[in-house]
Amino acid sequence: MDNRPIGVFDSGLGGLTVLSKIIEEIPTESIVYFGDCGRTPYGVKSKETIVKFTFQDIKFLLNQDIKMVVIACNTVSSNSLHEVKKEFKGIHIVEVIEPGALSAVNETVNKKVGVIGTSGTINSNVYENAIKKLDDSITVYSKACPLFVPLVEEGWWDNDIALRTAEEYLLPLKEKGIDTLVLGCTHYPLIINEIKAVLPSHIKVINQGTIVAESLDNYLKRHNEIENQLGKNYNRSFYTTDTSEMFNDMAELFYGESIFSEHAEMEM
Ligand code: DGL
Repeated sequence: MDNRPIGVFDSGLGGLTVLSKIIEEIPTESIVYFGDCGRTPYGVKSKETIVKFTFQDIKFLLNQDIKMVVIACNTVSSNSLHEVKKEFKGIHIVEVIEPGALSAVNETVNKKVGVIGTSGTINSNVYENAIKKLDDSITVYSKACPLFVPLVEEGWWDNDIALRTAEEYLLPLKEKGIDTLVLGCTHYPLIINEIKAVLPSHIKVINQGTIVAESLDNYLKRHNEIENQLGKNYNRSFYTTDTSEMFNDMAELFYGESIFSEHAEMEM
């Protein structure tokens, strides 16, 4: 048994949507969450910058004596996974792309899959490559939806602007006849109702939080030497590079309950 916490990080608050699903699945694990709110968003930044920030984020988590890392961010997973695996050998890393891709492959019937995400994620082609590696006969239609993140951060996910934006972004995917849509960004579960509202009801919308949580649970079960014991004491700590007040004010929307975070002291 390894009772050290699992380190989870994101460019900001979005990873909390993944974390909330992880906690539903494995409630007794200790967690350290790190959100780089001081430098978010990552989705519009260059690969070099994303890799540099990612290394700093992981080093911060490793200083908290964690047992493994969950990259709860699509932009980070798609732009820096290769570099992370090379730099942090020996640390188990869970990311969000592969579980999302696998789920899409399992769900699609007509073999037409849509993927939406930040520009950084979509430009990397990572989802398309991951899906095609699993099933070459699937056609992937990708669409960057850069306005969704600021809309969600503004709290504007249940109004006409959100609906209109979703309509505009998703029309080309709808026209391609997709039957499955991957939400390839941690912010998008908050805007899922608007996304579903502008799509035909038969299209399956994949929210990766649940799938990532399940794959993490499987991993812990298969390696039961690192699974925390049920009923043992567990801790949840939250760190942010922005002011903790800002993080705390917004976090409840993403996480579902109030959070008290600490300011992360780290070299940038
Ligand atoms: N967390 C990011 C993702 O899942 C979205 C926010 C950002 O652009 O940093 O892609």
